[in-house]
Amino acid sequence: MIIDWPALRAAAAGVAGRAYAPYSRLRVGAAGLTADGRVVTGCNVENASFGLTLCAECGLVSALHATAPPAVDGTSRDSGTSGTAAPVLVAVAVVAGDGAPLLPCGRCRQLLLEAGGAALLVDTTSGPVPLGDLLPAAFAAPDLSARRDA
Ligand code: THU
Repeated sequence: MIIDWPALRAAAAGVAGRAYAPYSRLRVGAAGLTADGRVVTGCNVENASFGLTLCAECGLVSALHATAPPAVDGTSRDSGTSGTAAPVLVAVAVVAGDGAPLLPCGRCRQLLLEAGGAALLVDTTSGPVPLGDLLPAAFAAPDLSARRDA
């Protein structure tokens, strides 16, 4: 799949302009390319209760699910109950208001891992890097199934 990184970065820069960041004054935009060729975006949304701030990547991941085409058989996309594939990200660009790449925070690396896996490509100033390089030895769904009580 061909990834148009300049277009993805431009989409992220565009949505950064919609950020609600009156407290940090750091606008952030995120754009992701899905395996089925869609571009989904998100921006950061802050709150007077600072800890409730939503990172741009949170909005992106929500949009990934909210805009996914419906399953053909009408079943849930929750792979735990239906086996229907969840929408998948293949590439992500995150930028600040200045348009330059911003590396996702730790929490968002974990969010992105669930949405794209370790092979998800993340834009950086020195080129795309696999998410697995940014979040090595990650906790993920297999740890749940392998370790929880029966
Ligand atoms: N922020 C993001 O949107 N994504 C990140 O990966 C890092 C931080 C936002 C959250 C907050 O609104 C502002 O940047 C300052 O932390």
